[in-house]
Amino acid sequence: MAFTKFILPTLAIASAVLAQNDVCDGPSITIASSTDAQQIASCKTYNGDVIIDSTASGQVAINGVQQIKGDLTCNNATQLTAITSDQLGTITGTFSLTGLTIMSTLQFDSLTGVNKINWVGLPALQSLNFAQGVQQANQIYISNTQLNNINGIELTAVGSMDINNNPYLTDVNVNDLANVTTSLAFSANGRDLEISFPNLEDAANLTFRNVSKISMPSLANVGGSMGFYSDTFKTFAAPNLTQTGGTLAFVDSPDLSSISFPSLTQIGGGFLIANNTGLKAINGLPKLKTIVGALDFAGAFNSVSMPSLTDVRGGSNVQTTSTNTTICDLFNQAHSAGVIKGVNTCLTNKANPDTNPSATSGGTSSTSTSGSSTSNVAIAFGPSAPLTGLSALFAAIFFL
Ligand SMILES: *[C@@H]1O[C@H](CO)[C@@H](O)[C@H](O)[C@H]1NC(C)=O
Ligand SMILES: *[C@@H]1O[C@H](CO)[C@@H](O)[C@H](O)[C@H]1NC(C)=O
Ligand SMILES: *[C@@H]1O[C@H](CO)[C@@H](O)[C@H](O)[C@H]1NC(C)=O
Ligand SMILES: *[C@@H]1O[C@H](CO)[C@@H](O)[C@H](O)[C@H]1NC(C)=O
Ligand SMILES: *[C@@H]1O[C@H](CO)[C@@H](O)[C@H](O)[C@H]1NC(C)=O
Ligand SMILES: *[C@@H]1O[C@H](CO)[C@@H](O)[C@H](O)[C@H]1NC(C)=O
Ligand SMILES: *[C@@H]1O[C@H](CO)[C@@H](O)[C@H](O)[C@H]1NC(C)=O
Repeated sequence: MAFTKFILPTLAIASAVLAQNDVCDGPSITIASSTDAQQIASCKTYNGDVIIDSTASGQVAINGVQQIKGDLTCNNATQLTAITSDQLGTITGTFSLTGLTIMSTLQFDSLTGVNKINWVGLPALQSLNFAQGVQQANQIYISNTQLNNINGIELTAVGSMDINNNPYLTDVNVNDLANVTTSLAFSANGRDLEISFPNLEDAANLTFRNVSKISMPSLANVGGSMGFYSDTFKTFAAPNLTQTGGTLAFVDSPDLSSISFPSLTQIGGGFLIANNTGLKAINGLPKLKTIVGALDFAGAFNSVSMPSLTDVRGGSNVQTTSTNTTICDLFNQAHSAGVIKGVNTCLTNKANPDTNPSATSGGTSSTSTSGSSTSNVAIAFGPSAPLTGLSALFAAIFFL
């Protein structure tokens, strides 16, 4: 092998290019240094798992290899400061990094696709250095990092994304994200976290906790549930949202003063509004016609307006500190008229308004006090919904 020392640079490059065609078979390789990583540098594809040993320290560069058909894992390498890669484009398994106490650099110049990202306990990681941006991923779980943003995650679609307990995370803007096929969840990140998904149209489940601003102007369809808990924004608007497949919830957000759903016609599960002390009027729902589950409002609101509501297939629980008895007149009449199919409880001047947990506790599709087959009709919607002229008339009169 001493001969290779005398190869001219151009020849060395040519042989490297030839070697790039190689597929190397695992099942796995454990590396503790950049030198160890050179064992797979000439493999275009490494067929197996790449494990960075917990004894690794300083920087580990995984250069040359273009694809890992398996996992890339590093756990508890507490002396590791950087993981870099110049050519790695895809990881077909899980990219898992946990307990990397001082790792501050994650630089992948070519990475565009990962099956799963699992990053937990990376308290020195402040930013990602992904020149191409990860455009495809099925699952993303990021917890306990120091990330300020997730720039470098440039997805167009994702199965699930759960971002929690990243106390410095204040800015999330995934511009190209159009579709979330299972769930998106944010909780306990930076106090001033502002989230923007300008092109998100279709989402399954959405859960936002401890968020200070959310913008989803293109959101048109939520297949599952959408819930907002302990958030600090004053207003929320979903101008293009027409339906949800599951529950819609606003809970424990004291600054919330208005909601706006100008296009929403159907809520496929329950409708829960509770403990938002600043929300004095429940309105902004001009087209809401059908609630497949139960309606559950508890708070300090002085008025309720849902002028198109003609079908609540579950029951209703309405409790407010307000003394405006007209609110309960409307709900009681709507129940008598058959708009509200289940049990109706309405209380004004209630010191401690209670929700009806059995009615809307669920986070997914239909939750209903009326039992039976309500979930099956979640799809029946629009012209095919079984509305009688009479209940429509009553609703239009009562829900001013
Ligand atoms: C990493 O360390 C933690 C605690 O220090 C331990 O619980 C965990 O099992 C370790 N993980 C691995 C994969 O060794
Ligand atoms: C989102 O993905 C689902 C499932 O793959 C698909 O049915 C739907 O059309 C997609 N929506 C958009 C806006 O691409
Ligand atoms: C919503 O999330 C639940 C799991 O929490 C899942 O079972 C369900 O399929 C998701 N909804 C949709 C529409 O994907
Ligand atoms: C998030 O909200 C919960 C209440 O739902 C609260 O207990 C928790 O302290 C909040 N976390 C942060 C980081 O704000
Ligand atoms: C809202 O929906 C309309 C009609 O489908 C569409 O033309 C418009 O571009 C959407 N707005 C946004 C911000 O996506
Ligand atoms: C509303 O607040 C009360 C009192 O803090 C609590 O008991 C109840 O569980 C809260 N309701 C919801 C739906 O969070
Ligand atoms: C009482 O509630 C009704 C129904 O929501 C509303 O039209 C009316 O304006 C409210 N009155 C006051 C004083 O808020």
